[in-house]
Amino acid sequence: MCGIVGYTGKNSALAPVLEGLRRLEYRGYDSAGIALTVAVGQQLWVEKRAGKLGNLEETLEDGTPDSHSGIGHTRWATHGGPTDTNAHPHLDNEGKLALIHNGIIENYVELRAELERRGHIFKSETDTESVVHLLSDARKAHHGDLAAAMREVCAELRGSFTLLAIHSDQPDHIVGARRNSPLVVGVGNGENFLASDVAAFIAHTKRALELGQDEVVDISPTEIIITDLQGNVLPHHEYEISWDASAAERGGYAHFMLKEIYEQPKAILDTLIGRLHGLGAEISQNIDFGKIDKVVIIACGTAFHAGLVGKYAIEQWGGISVEVEYASEYRYREPRVDGHTLVIPISQSGETMDTLMAMRYAKENGAQVFSVCNTNGSTIPRESDAVLYTHAGPEIAVASTKAFATQLIAMYLIGLHLGQIRGTITSEFIAEMAEHLEALPAKVEQVLETVEPLRELTRQFKDSSSMLFLGRHVGYPTALEGALKLKELAYMHAEGFPGGELKHGPIALIDQGTPVVAMIPAEGSLLAEKMASNVQEVKARGAVVIAISDWHVPAASHVVRIPSTHPFLQPVLSVVPLQVIAYEMAIARGNDVDQPRNLAKSVTVE
Ligand code: G6P
Repeated sequence: MCGIVGYTGKNSALAPVLEGLRRLEYRGYDSAGIALTVAVGQQLWVEKRAGKLGNLEETLEDGTPDSHSGIGHTRWATHGGPTDTNAHPHLDNEGKLALIHNGIIENYVELRAELERRGHIFKSETDTESVVHLLSDARKAHHGDLAAAMREVCAELRGSFTLLAIHSDQPDHIVGARRNSPLVVGVGNGENFLASDVAAFIAHTKRALELGQDEVVDISPTEIIITDLQGNVLPHHEYEISWDASAAERGGYAHFMLKEIYEQPKAILDTLIGRLHGLGAEISQNIDFGKIDKVVIIACGTAFHAGLVGKYAIEQWGGISVEVEYASEYRYREPRVDGHTLVIPISQSGETMDTLMAMRYAKENGAQVFSVCNTNGSTIPRESDAVLYTHAGPEIAVASTKAFATQLIAMYLIGLHLGQIRGTITSEFIAEMAEHLEALPAKVEQVLETVEPLRELTRQFKDSSSMLFLGRHVGYPTALEGALKLKELAYMHAEGFPGGELKHGPIALIDQGTPVVAMIPAEGSLLAEKMASNVQEVKARGAVVIAISDWHVPAASHVVRIPSTHPFLQPVLSVVPLQVIAYEMAIARGNDVDQPRNLAKSVTVE
């Protein structure tokens, strides 16, 4: 959601800004724009277009000025539709100050009314434009000091924002600020970068600086000054980015999603490494596990489904009650939370606003917060008492795949950890589970080697109006994830149900030829028998049933065989065919696989 890039340095700015925007495309957007400084005191050069980056690039073919500093933005519309005018950057009335923004300015209506009264002329319907006019006035009051103006303006804003501004009077400076929205500095040699995500500059430098809440940064090619809103200069916290540019490239795969599906064995292995014999040192120092009497998992989308699977493992192995709640719903019911509650936010990006706000509510009420996250240094882990990083590497496709697989692994590790310290499982059981977990990467590899016929089968259902997913126990959240993937990618009606719930209503949806995907547990288990009966029920009413299982389910129309594993771990294997179904269906229906319509990878608004 909204990508932000700034470059100032020895080279021409256009290429790194455009390249940065390309690398942030995965976040989802519906318009794009750039602003470049031309010469001291001259108007800025600005181009912005609705639609994909290609539209913007076409307008650049007629030539761009030779500029060494500029800012670029991909916008995901909130206030005002995705039009050329509403696209960022926004300019002051002199055309010398440009601003880009991610987030929402909650008090923009009052600000706009006041600014219009003062004579500012607005062109767009955005909340952002108020900020550029405000900044313009503040800059004049501060005798041309853009950073001082930014500090004053930030103090007046309500809401969440990452802001970048340039002014033609200081053409090699870019001033940025952040509150509840990500901004990182890329430290180069004779050049510096600002971006909403390190992916934007990873091809140029692996040195990055974190910015805290309500901090303002002023970069030039050779200097980086970070201050708080009072103007106090703050120390730099530099870190090294651990992955390289190739990790954020497609590497021969047709789509990022396909690449990420195939990266799952490695991602699972990386998340497991060094943790199979306890999470101790990594997490225990800031969490008092002895005090906990309840676990609450909060998350959105795919991460929520990982949490639902986690409930089975943590409750059963850790011997503790677990609630799983949509982060967007959590704080509004004012739930009872105290120091005995362990809250586990799960988030790939670490920036999802719904999850962040739910977590802050829990913290304010005394909960201990232990996050599961894939993005180092992002806001959710920074504000948590402890964090378990999933090591999935950068996930670029909007639809989450490898991040989900590693979130499941994190859930199992937490379940085992809690069981170990609470004494609810034996060391033999832990050793047995460690073996099962260790075997998962190779088993996922095995599933991936056999998915080709499933791709062919999927294409047969390309014109279906609906697809249903059934499961029981951990197979139920897996079914929910399968349905979500299909909705996101195929734009097809899809729903996941508990197998036993079918007869209470959803079975009315079954018609001749309705495709139903069923997660079937290991042969001989009680739940396998129950699921087999559910398969019979839908088949008798005309459904075509694709069973995902480690045995030959006679009642099914087609069986996708997966290797056997511990029953709780089955989702790690059974989700892979579900990802393949969604991927293939998107292609068959001519949809954009990596950037499905209307979706954003990192949703930084509530
Ligand atoms: C968005 C994405 C989903 C993702 C969810 C949670 O809705 O489109 O794919 O599952 O956010 O994201 P997070 O980064 O918090 O895991």
